[in-house]
This record gives sequence, structure tokens and C-alpha cells, in this order.
Amino acid sequence: MTRVSVKVDGTNYEDEVEPRLLLIHYLRDRLGLTGTPIGCDTSNCGACTVDLDGESVKSCSVLAVQADGGEVTTVQGLAGENGEWTALQRAFHERHALQCGYCTPGMIMAARDLLRDNPSPTSDEVRHALEGNLCRCTGYQNIVRAVLAASGQEVGT
Ligand code: FES
Ligand code: FES
Repeated sequence: MTRVSVKVDGTNYEDEVEPRLLLIHYLRDRLGLTGTPIGCDTSNCGACTVDLDGESVKSCSVLAVQADGGEVTTVQGLAGENGEWTALQRAFHERHALQCGYCTPGMIMAARDLLRDNPSPTSDEVRHALEGNLCRCTGYQNIVRAVLAASGQEVGT
């Protein structure tokens, strides 16, 4: 067992973990943060995307011990203290950028990472940034629109 110390969604945790434990399992099974889903077992779908020290990562391809000393933000940590959504969360809701919602946490976390680096992306840049995130429902159009809307760019419905 290895000791890890990590801040997740603003709360500090200290735990003993197996060195092989994946970050996604640590978040879901140990911390009960089930807002981040597991969508595949191949590191392909991006549903499990979280922010680790300012970079979006697929938490099924990172070990919990790699987050030691770091800071993780999941989709559950985005809303404000009173539960108010971020502009990106609101845009996904208002632009109907989800159907089943399984991909949504990962889409939002990957889009958040994009907008941090590129606050006014083109739709091609949005598509490129979300290439690692699969959606089986929406055809992506409304997801791209939502990200553009969250960046303050007026887009059609
Ligand atoms: S569950 Fe991590 S990429 Fe699919
Ligand atoms: S909304 Fe169902 S997988 Fe994207």
C-alpha cells in the first residue's frame, strides 16, 4: 500500500492505496465521487476526464498514486458554493448538448481545459479538442455549439 495525499474538489484526502489503483476507481469507489463515469475499458471514450493539476486527463489511464500531492477537479467540483453552474455547464443545458448524459462530465472537463487555453476557439478547434471524447447520442453538433456559446460566441440553434 502507498500513502497518497490529494485535494479533490477542494477537499483534502489522505489514503492508503494499492499502487495499481486507477484514479477513476479512487474517485468513485473510495471517495464516492460518482459524477465521473467509466464509459469504456480501453481509455478511448473520455467519459472519465478530470482535471489534474491544470491538465485534463483520462482518469482511467492515471494511477491514484500519480495524483499524490496534487489537485484534482471533477465535474462535481465545478459548481459554485450555492450550486450555481458555470457558464459551460449552463451552455450544455441550454443548448441541449446531451441526451443520455454519459459523456457529459468528460465533455465538460475537456471543454473547460480548451477554453482555459483558448477562450475563443473556432468550431474546428472545439472539435479537435474534443476528439478524445466520444458521444454515442448527440452527433456532437450541440456539444460544439454549447462550447462556443460558453466562450461568448453567438451561434445558431
Ligand atoms: S472510461 Fe476512461 S476513457 Fe473511457
Ligand atoms: S449524450 Fe449520450 S453518450 Fe453523449
